[in-house]
Amino acid sequence: MLKILTLIGARPQFIKASAISRAIKNSFSDKIEEVIVHSGQHYDANMSSVFFEELALPIPNHIFKLQAKGHSGQTAEILNNLEEVLLKEKPNALLVYGDTNTTLAGALAASKNHIPLIHIEAGLRSFNKTMPEEINRILTDHCSSLLFCPTKTALHNLKVEGICHSTNQCSADSPKVYACGDIMYDNSLYFSKYVKEDILKKNGLENYLLFTMHRPSNTDKPERLKNICRMLMRLADKHQQIVAFPMHPRTKKSLLTHLNVEELDAFMHHRFVKVMEPASFVDMIALEKHCQMVITDSGGVQKEAYFFEKPCLILRSETEWLEIVAQGAAAIVDASEDKLNLNYDLMKSKSITFPKLFGDGKSAEFICQKIVEEI
Ligand code: UD1
Repeated sequence: MLKILTLIGARPQFIKASAISRAIKNSFSDKIEEVIVHSGQHYDANMSSVFFEELALPIPNHIFKLQAKGHSGQTAEILNNLEEVLLKEKPNALLVYGDTNTTLAGALAASKNHIPLIHIEAGLRSFNKTMPEEINRILTDHCSSLLFCPTKTALHNLKVEGICHSTNQCSADSPKVYACGDIMYDNSLYFSKYVKEDILKKNGLENYLLFTMHRPSNTDKPERLKNICRMLMRLADKHQQIVAFPMHPRTKKSLLTHLNVEELDAFMHHRFVKVMEPASFVDMIALEKHCQMVITDSGGVQKEAYFFEKPCLILRSETEWLEIVAQGAAAIVDASEDKLNLNYDLMKSKSITFPKLFGDGKSAEFICQKIVEEI
């Protein structure tokens, strides 16, 4: 029996982990024992516990309570706490997801303790090192023994950095690298069966745009933040279209800090902008399934827009998901009002196809099988 220690801590990781936990429970329970550690990075109920309940995730065996809120402190505290757990649990491998500070802390703790590191969502690159996630993912990939890439582009990115599939025994010096599809596609398919439309009725949402924003590059620059709010309100006014906005706590804090009273009131009480609490995963699927278009700076939401065949406007200067832009289903608009309007009109007028780019919805089973074979 393999003992795999799964480290999660931020909202998207709870969702990703549910695909693997489900696959272990259904098909690998005699081969893999999973010990779950919650790093404490996200802690509010609507950012954390709601996902455990809704996604039927096993309750974590270890939960950290973080004191620090900044990036360095957060990473250091998780690293320190995790080392204690690794020494106690002595797992055969540590499994991490994505590119958050939790991911990086896991990668460092595993390396320092000579525990094989498994990275799911490996190889993604924005080629923008001012993004904290870009550093987190590069360092994590270079510490990993077993890497799972969601796309061919990700596989190629690793190759360029010299991380190639080795035929030797799996280790950080001779890693095994697989393209396996996207476990978020597994999850979107699985949970769309459980979607209810209550959130739409409760918020009076019909013919609406779905908007999310939480990246520091947007929330932490006052002028850019104000500009995005203004251009969104004008777009909504022009097309008389509701903008549904489940708001991340980081964004809420930034709006309260950077907007003056009039600006805040104009945005929060705009007749078309519907500000909501952060949505659960199943509610988010409902919002994505029924919207007209998605406007977001989230990598996960970009992909989910594609899974549910919705055009997407990306509020960043680059994306890790080049495939959906190349497919014409998404466009990078950065914080430019001209690009936003142009691409909104373009997406409305053209016909878009959504071929399967993210696997067959069975990535989690593939990953578990490879873990059993390689670790
Ligand atoms: C983190 C990830 C990002 C991911 C996002 C998903 C890093 C570097 N970034 O960004 O890649 O897309 O999670 O949401 O790891 N806060 C609360 N309650 C919570 C969680 C956060 O109030 O439950 C507030 C805190 O003030 C915190 C701030 O939000 O300092 C930012 O949280 P943090 O986890 O540092 O980064 P995210 O922006 O959530």
